[in-house]
Amino acid sequence: MNILHISAECFPIAKVGGLADVVGALPNYQKELGTNSNVVIPFFNNRFNQEHTFEVIFTGNLQLGETSYGFRILKLLNSTLGFDLFCVDITELLYTEYVYSNDDTERFLAFQIATLDWLLTLKEKPDILHTHDHHTGLIPFMISQSFRYKTLKEIPTVLTIHNAQYQGWFSHEKTFLIPSFDKKNIGLLDWDGSINPLACAIKCAWSVTTVSPSYMEELKLNANGLEALLSHESDKCVGIINGIDWNVWDPERDPKLIKNFSKTTVVSGKKANKKWLCEKFNLDKNKPLFCFIGRLVGEKGADLFFDIFKKSLKENTISILLLGSGHKETEQQLATLNSHADYNSFIGYDETLAHIIYAGADFLLMPSRVEPCGLNQMYALRYGTTPIVNSIGGLKDTVIDIEDGGYGICHDGVSIDKVTAAISKAALFYTDKKRFQKNSRSILSIDYSWSHSAKEYVQLYKSLKL
Ligand code: GLC
Repeated sequence: MNILHISAECFPIAKVGGLADVVGALPNYQKELGTNSNVVIPFFNNRFNQEHTFEVIFTGNLQLGETSYGFRILKLLNSTLGFDLFCVDITELLYTEYVYSNDDTERFLAFQIATLDWLLTLKEKPDILHTHDHHTGLIPFMISQSFRYKTLKEIPTVLTIHNAQYQGWFSHEKTFLIPSFDKKNIGLLDWDGSINPLACAIKCAWSVTTVSPSYMEELKLNANGLEALLSHESDKCVGIINGIDWNVWDPERDPKLIKNFSKTTVVSGKKANKKWLCEKFNLDKNKPLFCFIGRLVGEKGADLFFDIFKKSLKENTISILLLGSGHKETEQQLATLNSHADYNSFIGYDETLAHIIYAGADFLLMPSRVEPCGLNQMYALRYGTTPIVNSIGGLKDTVIDIEDGGYGICHDGVSIDKVTAAISKAALFYTDKKRFQKNSRSILSIDYSWSHSAKEYVQLYKSLKL
């Protein structure tokens, strides 16, 4: 079975968030189950693309309304990714240093049209088109409605929602950019008065998945305006928890770590990584180290970090290290904490540093208000770091509280007091060295790799091909 994943991001080529990690790992785990899963993404102006060689396998011209763009389909040569990587090169629109900008309608529409134009020419078509998020959300519509793509109509489409907050809205005035279709079906494109690619994909895809069972349930109550639609379409919706790539996230072999470790050497291994972090960031290595990695946005609870950190540092003997960037106001507010002896941060993103933090931290904070799946808690577990999470979405599905016989610290809801209380509880847990170290040792082998979830996807594909 040939599966084509169509996405805006794919690790390690272009990564903004967890979407990249999923698209970079899932195909390989599907391949182990016998499918031929490959990936197509836009061709961006980034380091990976500059340092690798691509072969041009197709050239064409696409029509975006009245404008015509030349495009090329590139295939990565000597791929060590495990799957075939195809890139859509539309230089004027997509060859940018960024993945997303403020107005992406034309960029991603052109990407989707080029992908479908190329598929039209293939003798052997994919058996399933697996689209991810709103950037590829018009594909299910175009292959079922646009006259141009009628030969692709029978290919089942799957949409995976990684985050329903972003829907790709654009105005009806731009409808002419979409390859022509029977206008009586315009309603499929619309939600609440504008063109809504995510809503459209929920309507038109054969199956809709999201990245955890709990998030699927939550979406029916809170989906940034799409609640009724998701409830209405619930028969074709399913939550499949993400996994993590155990080949990349392996404390025994990860080349990014200061010291590698296994289940038996977890205590000394984590100590060495923590020592390096504390020296680099001027923190006391004898205090429990609490870390946050991620975007500084409201969804992640970041607007409360300043107050949470200030209160927690006052009430407990702990250190805090933050890696991420986001809202400028939050960044500025947090910068005023830099003078505190037990706090430090790296504003920006650094994949190597992230790996060392997962390995060297004692606790990882994830007070997300919304978390469709969350991968960071799984990376933390894999590196023997105890997660502290708000019990929602994927966090609820993957972290069980120590008081319920589990291995993490959970709080219900996000407020300064609730998160601070969870941090205090963790600091207390840390003082029970024996119990704390036993926890680090056991969480390292909890299997959140893709092997289970990849099977669920393959079963889903098979059910669509029947
Ligand atoms: C998005 C979600 C995150 C999820 C990731 C991968 O970034 O916010 O929760 O883990 O996609 O599916």
